[in-house]
Amino acid sequence: MRKKVLVTGGAGFVGSHLVDALVRDGEEVVVLDNLEYQVHEGRLPGYLNPGARYVFADVTDGEALERALEGCEVVFHEAAAVGVGQSMYQVEKYMRVNAIGTAKLLDLLVNREHEVEKLVVASSMSIYGEGKYECADCGVVYPRLRPREQLAARDWEVRCPTCGLALKPLPTDEGKPLFPTSIYAMSKRDQEEMSLAIGKAYGIPTVALRYFNIYGPRQALSNPYTGVCAIFSCRIRNDNPPVIFEDGLQSRDFVSVHDIVRANLLAMESSGADYKALNVGTGRPTSIREIAEVLIRLYGKRLEPEVSNKYREGDIRHCYADITAISALGFAPQVAFEEGMQELAEWVGLQPECQVADRFEKAQRELERRKLTL
Ligand code: UD1
Repeated sequence: MRKKVLVTGGAGFVGSHLVDALVRDGEEVVVLDNLEYQVHEGRLPGYLNPGARYVFADVTDGEALERALEGCEVVFHEAAAVGVGQSMYQVEKYMRVNAIGTAKLLDLLVNREHEVEKLVVASSMSIYGEGKYECADCGVVYPRLRPREQLAARDWEVRCPTCGLALKPLPTDEGKPLFPTSIYAMSKRDQEEMSLAIGKAYGIPTVALRYFNIYGPRQALSNPYTGVCAIFSCRIRNDNPPVIFEDGLQSRDFVSVHDIVRANLLAMESSGADYKALNVGTGRPTSIREIAEVLIRLYGKRLEPEVSNKYREGDIRHCYADITAISALGFAPQVAFEEGMQELAEWVGLQPECQVADRFEKAQRELERRKLTL
């Protein structure tokens, strides 16, 4: 049966792909989005799906939220401020949009009549801090950020907090204790925990999806607070070498936005997901050096990545997803790494020059001015 669905942040990267899938599947879709300037730079994105209804307002605007929510049976809450570094100097804004914005939505679900039967919130791997590791002597360990003296000595691998041995990264499962290290990550943890607590208390089936590092078409490019694939793409398209922090062997779990959409649709359909926090990744780690090399090759440029041997404040070393829990519900990532990177590169290649400006050096100067690199 046709469902009425609200997608907050539905003009953004993940939200807009999700809207396309929902419209394709015949659902009635309402979007609430503030067209954040930092992402859209005052332009209405050309990809907005005409099959959805749009309410252009902020998630912190309770009245607009209430209007958008009218009659909706499913809510995907994707709206968020997403700059990790920026959250460290716009503390109030990040808490207001991500935590208080979610609190307003939950207040409506608790205090107003509504039809909502499912709430899916966008959580983040950032809430873990460092990933899960194994020490040959001490077993499984959950280290905090690497000590400053170690980083100053350019000794990059994570060491066992008990015995000092170098650790082996393991896939990170949902049971790992949460050690968020940025205001952004804290706001996402709050959002996740508030949503699951209210969902359980009032019997509103709620799912938190912990997204790993998402890439793909429509990823914000010129926003200097965006992820590494976008930053490297802009560098390379402008004939500049991508700059790698540390030694380039740090790793992440890069997941295509199309697989993120699949996970969201599964969370909507599957009652097995209710009241759970679930990782969404590929289960496969990729080094940052490999990202740089693959993208240089795909853009067909003769460039060598520049290894800066510097540390970016707050960065973790390794984190990749254990996807056992979501796989048990039927999820399997379908976009192979090379294929996904190629899709990204093709899309970036089609963007007008003004939208792929290389702002890396400016962002870098800002980090240095604020002493956020070492
Ligand atoms: C962070 C967040 C994540 C969020 C993502 C995008 C954490 C632990 N995770 O991920 O939730 O989705 O930002 O906002 O806070 N790098 C370079 N050169 C660059 C840029 C990045 O070498 O020019 C390296 C970084 O040092 C890091 C890796 O690439 O080791 C990934 O960085 P990034 O894309 O910013 O994502 P995360 O820090 O993993």
